[in-house]
Amino acid sequence: MKKNKEKKSDINIISMNKICKSFPVEMGGEQQVLFDITFDVNQGEFVSIMGPSGSGKSTCMNIIGALDTPTSGTYKLYGNDITHLSSDELAVVRNEYIGFVFQQFNLLSKRSVLDNVMMPLMYRGFPMSERIRKAREMLKRVGLEKFESYLPTQLSGGMKQRVAIARALVGNPKLILADEPTGALDSKMGNDILQFFKQLNQEMGITIVMITHEFEIAQYSNRLIHIYDGRITYDGKVPKDEKVLQK
Ligand SMILES: Nc1ncnc2c1ncn2[C@@H]1O[C@H](COP(=O)(O)OP(=O)(O)OP(=O)(O)O)[C@@H](O)[C@H]1O
Ligand SMILES: [Mg+2]
Repeated sequence: MKKNKEKKSDINIISMNKICKSFPVEMGGEQQVLFDITFDVNQGEFVSIMGPSGSGKSTCMNIIGALDTPTSGTYKLYGNDITHLSSDELAVVRNEYIGFVFQQFNLLSKRSVLDNVMMPLMYRGFPMSERIRKAREMLKRVGLEKFESYLPTQLSGGMKQRVAIARALVGNPKLILADEPTGALDSKMGNDILQFFKQLNQEMGITIVMITHEFEIAQYSNRLIHIYDGRITYDGKVPKDEKVLQK
C-alpha cells in the first residue's frame, strides 16, 4: 500500500461557495436550512462536520454527495461545477467519484455480502468476473473475505458497516462521505470503524468527510467544521476542548 502519511495535496476535491438550501414548508413558504456555507476540502484531508441535531449536517452532506442540489451558491467537485446538473447526471457523478457510508448501513438484506459489495460496479460495464474479483479484494481489505456468501442479517453491526465500507471503496473513489457511520454501533465497534477510516486516509490518501454530532468521534479526523443553525461557526484543526465550538 502506498504510504501517504499526513501528506495533504493542493488538489481541490470539494469547493462549496455560499451554498444556501431552503425547503418548502407545508403551510406555504419555505424554511432556510443552510446559510452561505463556504469551504474547500483538498485531497487527503479527513474532515468532520459536527453540529447538533437539526443543524443542517445531512442537508449539507446531501449536497456534497450530489444527492441534492443547493437553492443558491456554487458547488464544484474536482473543479467541475455540478450545481445545476440533472438528477441523471448527478447519479453518474455519485457512482464515479464518491463512496457513501450511512448510519444504517443501507445494505440490501436479501442479497449476499458479495452481491452488496459488487453493486456499484453494475453500472460501470465491468464483466462479471472482474466485479467479483474487485469485490473479493475489498472484502479482504475489510477482513470479511470468509463471509462473502452470508446475508447482512447474519452479521453484527460492525461487520455490516465493514461491508458498507467495502461497497463504498469498490469503485475506487477518491472521496468517502460518511453520515454518522458509527451512530448505530457500540463504542468498541465504532472505534474499530473509525480506526479503519483513519488508516484509509493515512495509508491510501482517501479523502474523508464524516458527519458526527460527537466531539470524541471528531477526534479521529484532522479538521473540524462546526455547523450551528445552518451556519459554519468553526472551521479549523480539531480543538482539544469542545468549549471552543460554542457559538
Ligand atoms: N427533505 C426535506 N424537506 C424539508 N425539510 C427538511 C428536509 N431535509 C431536512 N429538512 C430540515 O432541515 C433541517 C436540518 O436537517 P438535517 O437533516 O440536515 O439536520 P442534521 O444536522 O443532519 O440533524 P441530525 O443530527 O438529527 O441528523 C431540519 O429542520 C429538517 O427538518
Ligand atoms: Mg443528519
